[in-house]
Amino acid sequence: MTSLKRQLFAWLIPLYVVTAIGAMLVSYRQYETNIGAFMDGQLHALANSHLQQLTLSKKLPALSPVDDDHLEHDGTPVVQFWDSDKRLLSSSRPMPGLTLQDASGPRDVDANGSWRVYTLLAAPVSVQLVQSSSFRHRVMWHSAWKSAEPVALLIPLSILLLWFVVRRSLHPLGRLVQTIAQKDEHDLAELPVDRAPAEITPLIVSMNGLLQRLQSAFTTQQRFVQDAAHELRTPLAALVLQAERLRARLGDTPHDELDRLELGIQRLHRLVDQLLKLERQEWSVHKQEPQTVDIRDVIKDSVSELLPVADRKRIDVGCYLPEASIIRVRVSDARSVFDNLIENALRYTPEGGAVDIKLGRSAEGPVVDIVDTGPGIPPELLGRVFDRFYRMLGQTESGSGLGLAIAQSAAHRNGMRIELQNRTDRTGLSARVYLPASLNSHLSIDS
Ligand SMILES: Nc1ncnc2c1ncn2[C@@H]1O[C@H](COP(=O)(O)OP(=O)(O)OP(=O)(O)O)[C@@H](O)[C@H]1O
Ligand SMILES: [Mg+2]
Repeated sequence: MTSLKRQLFAWLIPLYVVTAIGAMLVSYRQYETNIGAFMDGQLHALANSHLQQLTLSKKLPALSPVDDDHLEHDGTPVVQFWDSDKRLLSSSRPMPGLTLQDASGPRDVDANGSWRVYTLLAAPVSVQLVQSSSFRHRVMWHSAWKSAEPVALLIPLSILLLWFVVRRSLHPLGRLVQTIAQKDEHDLAELPVDRAPAEITPLIVSMNGLLQRLQSAFTTQQRFVQDAAHELRTPLAALVLQAERLRARLGDTPHDELDRLELGIQRLHRLVDQLLKLERQEWSVHKQEPQTVDIRDVIKDSVSELLPVADRKRIDVGCYLPEASIIRVRVSDARSVFDNLIENALRYTPEGGAVDIKLGRSAEGPVVDIVDTGPGIPPELLGRVFDRFYRMLGQTESGSGLGLAIAQSAAHRNGMRIELQNRTDRTGLSARVYLPASLNSHLSIDS
């Protein structure tokens, strides 16, 4: 993956280094000319002063010897006097191989080393000054480095500054990524363009276009499912009516075909209802705000609505709700969870069975257990029953296979979790609902 930050640094750091080296080379060239001319001027003045001294005193002056240290580190020049026959009369240091130059002025000479030699030809005695070239280069490099030093020191500083600026400039992009990551299929609101930098704005505008198209596609799909479900209801109601009339005409004589017809109509009714419920639930997430409720009230409402089913099947329903559990959830979602689980328990428990609903605590927080005396679910299918339209083979009870899928998605949206387990003490299913942390964990109120 290419990174803008990395690319920028990969280009800029070498650029800085090349600039610093370039600055140093240019400075060296300038110093070579300027300092060279200045040092040559000094040698010229020194040679002149020796010549004047010689003219005045009419004898060779005594020369203080120049050692290696002074020659190489201080740049002290060696002083030489030569006669008209190019014979060395006196030298402040032996310079083997070096002769008197043919013309006055400065020049570079190689003789057992590199030297800058300044010659002042005169009669009867000529003066020649010899300075170490390596000393002169050292001085020039030093000065060149001194002028490039600020640029070199600025490199880490400007990289730091650059890093900071790049980070700040890319911040809106990071914010945009975060906003998009937090979105789900229910939140297709447009992304804000106002504070975005000009470079990112076209991206946001096209994303907003895409979001709009998605929104309208979802709305069309939602409308289609709702319309289809509504349209199905009318002929279904007519079918129910026709079946009732047929039964009335046939009187009390048992009729298998009619029973099956009524069962089919019932299943179709249930399917349409569940489909509508699922569709509405998916799209109401952002419309309904979570509320603070005592979960016991939600459970009691579910149970009282389903009591007629229990009565019809003579199922003993036990409700143990010992203490209040105040949680924040969307009430319709919580109802959906308990309606589906309690309805399943009642539906799949044979006549005369028992269903117990218990509010208690686990290590993870408050839980509600819905325990029945039905056949349970084979362990390998415990995960599959949450799939949409999944029904166990050979199921005699009518249903659409959507109930647990509806309950599961409602639970997830509200920080709840459903776990199904077969009972170990006898046949039957135990459905456990893990609730969000209760807001009254310090209270203990008996119901
Ligand atoms: N308490 C239970 N005991 C035994 N089997 C169960 C129980 N609850 C669910 N099941 C099995 O899981 C399947 C899926 O359940 P789910 O509630 O999703 O659909 P359904 O009950 O068939 O239809 P509906 O959409 O009308 O609820 C059921 O068909 C049933 O086979
Ligand atoms: Mg069900």
